[in-house]
Amino acid sequence: MRKISILGTGYVGLVTGAGISEFGHHVTCVDIDKEKINQLNNGKIPIFEPGLNSLLKSNSKKERLFFSADIEKAIKESDIIFIAVGTPQKNSGEVDLRYVESVSKTISKNLNKYKIICTKSTVPVGTGELIEKILLENNDRSDFGYVSNPEFLREGSAVKDFLIPDRLVIGARSEKAFSIMKEVYRPFFINETPIVNTSVETAEMIKYASNAFLALKISYINEIANLCEIVGADIHHVAKAMGQDGRISAKFLHPGPGFGGSCFPKDTMALVNMGKNFNHPVKTVEAAIEVNKEQFLRMVNKIDSLLDHQVSGKKIAILGLSFKPQTDDIREAPSTKIIPKLISKGAKINAYDPVAIENFKINYPDLNYFENWEDTVKGVDACVILTEWHEFRGIDLRKLKMLMSNPIILDTKNILSIKELKKLDFKYENIGRKI
Ligand code: UGA
Repeated sequence: MRKISILGTGYVGLVTGAGISEFGHHVTCVDIDKEKINQLNNGKIPIFEPGLNSLLKSNSKKERLFFSADIEKAIKESDIIFIAVGTPQKNSGEVDLRYVESVSKTISKNLNKYKIICTKSTVPVGTGELIEKILLENNDRSDFGYVSNPEFLREGSAVKDFLIPDRLVIGARSEKAFSIMKEVYRPFFINETPIVNTSVETAEMIKYASNAFLALKISYINEIANLCEIVGADIHHVAKAMGQDGRISAKFLHPGPGFGGSCFPKDTMALVNMGKNFNHPVKTVEAAIEVNKEQFLRMVNKIDSLLDHQVSGKKIAILGLSFKPQTDDIREAPSTKIIPKLISKGAKINAYDPVAIENFKINYPDLNYFENWEDTVKGVDACVILTEWHEFRGIDLRKLKMLMSNPIILDTKNILSIKELKKLDFKYENIGRKI
């Protein structure tokens, strides 16, 4: 059993804290936001993440998971310190490292014995070296072991991704640091989870290269889907056959309104900036970002065409506000790109999401929000599905048609039956499927 502190209680910090305590370690999740810590101590979880609540509760009950706002105490009492603070995007597109730098300074001043300092936050290559420099301002190299241990957690399935990872990446500066991390993640070694034992810089790059590749895959399939629409091919069959080739794999080949979330948009930009800084443009990723921006606009144009270019004054129902199902996260969600464009064209928006409405209301308080899809679509001129929540997959299309003023629908996630839409005489559009 090791004493571990996790600095930052965002979804990465909380999932990591809960997951590592599940392995039997003594974990303290730390945040400077005292209100958040109070809430966590009272059993209130600030994010919607399936499975997280029960994991946090069971480990708190077993007295191996704690929440604290006292960062200095937590650092002093720990053997291993995970940095899991936010790395937001600056206006320039570069990564804002101010929180990483700030906690590194606090760690630097509070190292009282040999500790592992391990970064989970997604940080550009070279950040490890920067953190080490900060640590060396008050300590010797022999006082700490630095490790980069990127996360590959998807929101909505982060707990599962943590407990059953495809691989574990450990970029350790020394053999000693690697063997301590091996102990932290002992259950993965026993399960024979593939472990990549590599350098700090390589681990940092693996994270960006993985996320950018997945984003590339999505932009690629979106472009092919758009071309399918023109040539009369069906993207589902194309993607399925492509995915059956083991070299390609079927994952992340689902076309849609464009990728969103707190990771892909930010990480692709960061990789592009990293390339520019080293005078080595990453052109494929630049193109993926461009294609993604156009995909959002393409959705607006589809709605415009479905409404015969008469969007002004029309009532449009939006089903799904979160950037993907099983999360209340709306950061960079297609909804945040598409809804403002529709409003600027004079549309009136009815909106519904099973969990993300409160988050959406913060920036868009004036939409008409509803508590279920049925009320949302009542009397509307068109309906747009932006997130593939299960409850939208099961929509009764007869009922939908009855409730709407006009049976017009844009299914950006291709979750509705084309056959049934046709049978019911819907005017509809999707992404890359024969209509
Ligand atoms: C992503 C990565 O998948 C994780 O491995 C990584 O750890 C995480 O970023 C991170 O860096 O923290 P996440 O952003 O939670 O996870 O969600 P994804 O499931 O990857 O979806 C991202 C976006 O791509 C969503 O808008 C989703 O709808 C879209 N997407 C995904 C598609 O349009 N098509 C697909 O086939 C898959």
